[in-house]
Amino acid sequence: MDIIRRIKGTQDILPGQTNRWQALEKYVRSKMADFNYHEIRTPVFELTRLFSRGIGELTDIVSKEMYTFEDRSKKSLTLKPEMTAPVIRAYIENNMQAKLSVNKLFYISPLFRQENPQAGRLRQFHQFGAECIGAASPLADVELIDLALQILQGLGLKNTHLKINTVGDPQSRKPYKKLLQDYLNKAIQNPSPEVRGRIEKNPLRVLDSKDPALQTIIAGAPKLVNHLSADAANHYAVLKAQLQNLDISFMEDPTLVRGLDYYTHTVFEITSGDLGAQNALLGGGRYDLLTGQLAGKDAPAVGFAAGMERILMSLEKQGVELPASQPLDVFLIALGDDAIKQMPVFVSRLRKSGISCDADYLGRSMKAQFREANRQQARYALILGEEELQKKHFRVKQMDSGEQTDVAFDEIITYLKK
Ligand code: HAM
Repeated sequence: MDIIRRIKGTQDILPGQTNRWQALEKYVRSKMADFNYHEIRTPVFELTRLFSRGIGELTDIVSKEMYTFEDRSKKSLTLKPEMTAPVIRAYIENNMQAKLSVNKLFYISPLFRQENPQAGRLRQFHQFGAECIGAASPLADVELIDLALQILQGLGLKNTHLKINTVGDPQSRKPYKKLLQDYLNKAIQNPSPEVRGRIEKNPLRVLDSKDPALQTIIAGAPKLVNHLSADAANHYAVLKAQLQNLDISFMEDPTLVRGLDYYTHTVFEITSGDLGAQNALLGGGRYDLLTGQLAGKDAPAVGFAAGMERILMSLEKQGVELPASQPLDVFLIALGDDAIKQMPVFVSRLRKSGISCDADYLGRSMKAQFREANRQQARYALILGEEELQKKHFRVKQMDSGEQTDVAFDEIITYLKK
C-alpha cells in the first residue's frame, strides 16, 4: 500500500520542536498583555467574498493563492489566507465598537496560501499579529511597531531591519496614481499582461515588483512621499518623529507598498538579515478604509502580522535557544505483577499533585525501564517491586547523581516537591 504523505508546503511540528513553538507563543502572549492587546480567535474558513472584497481582487493572494472551494450547499468558502479581514468582520459582526472605542486585538493562527513552497514559504503557515481598531492617530502606528520590535528583540533576535513608508490617503493617491500611470506607460516598453493590468488598476503595485528589468524604471518613478496631502504628510511626519523619540531606527523605503490593497498611510516591514529570499519577518500598516469596504462604516485601524516559521528559523540560525520543554519529574519502574497492578494508582496520584510522571506499559525488564527513564530525562526513578510494596515505600533514585534512598508511600509527594 502506498504511504499517505502530508500535503506539499505543510509541516508536521513534532515533539522536540513544539516546545520552541510554545515558548514563542508564551512570549507573544505575555508581550501582548503588556501592551493591553486581547486575544481574538476566528474560524478557519470564511465566505470567499470577505477576502476578495477585503484584500483586493488584484492582489496575488486573492487572484492566485487562495484555497477556495464550494461546500455542499454551493457556497464559496476560503481557508483564511490572512487575519486582518476576518478580525474586521468579527469586529463589525459582534458590534465591538459599542463596548470599547478602541479595540486592541491579537491572534495566533494558522493560515493558508497556495504559494510555491520554498524555505520560509509554506502553504500552511502561522502568524501572530495585532490589530488596533478605532484610533486614527499615528501614535497607534508607533505603538504597533514598538510592540513588534519588543517581541522580536525580547526573543533575542538580532540583525532585524525596520522599513517604513506611507501609501498616503485617497486624496494623495488619486492624483499620484495618474502621475505614476503616465510615467510607467512611457517608461515600460511592451509590458507583460500582468504588469499592464497592474499599471491600469493599481500602479502602486508595480513599485514592489522584483523583476530585475524594471528596477531602474522603479527607482526613477515619481514618489508618493513628494505628493502627499497635508493630512497624510502630517501623519507620516508624526510617525517618524515618534519613532525617533522611542530610539527606534528605521529606513524609509519609497518602494514599500505591500501586497494587500487595504493599506492607507503607514506601511512597514521588518526583515531579517539571516534569511534568504523570504526575509520578511513581519509586515503591517494602517488600513482606515477596510471597515468601510466591508460594512459601510469607517473605523480607522492599524496592525501587523508576523510569520512564526520565519522567526523560529532566524532564531535557530542565530543560535538563540528558546526554553526547553518541561522535564519529566518521575519515571515509575514497576516490577512484578502486583506492582504493575498498583502502578496506575500511584502514577495517577503523583500527577494529581502536579508531579509529571510516566511509567512502562510494555512489561519491560528493570534494565530496559531504567534505560527508558534515562531516555525520557526523568529527574527521579521510583522503583516499586515486591519488597517495596510490602514495606510501603519506594526506592527513589536521583537520576543525575545516582543517589538512592527509600521514601514511604505517604511521604513521596512531599519528598519530590522539596
Ligand atoms: P503579509 O505580509 O501577507 O501581511 O504577511 C505577514 C507575514 O506573514 C510575512 O511577513 C511573513 O513573515 C508571513 N508569511 C506570509 N506568507 C507566508 C507563507 N506563505 N509562508 C510563511 N510565512 C508567510 C498580512 O498577512 C497582513 N494581514 C498583515 C497586517 C495585519 N496588516 C495589517 N494588519
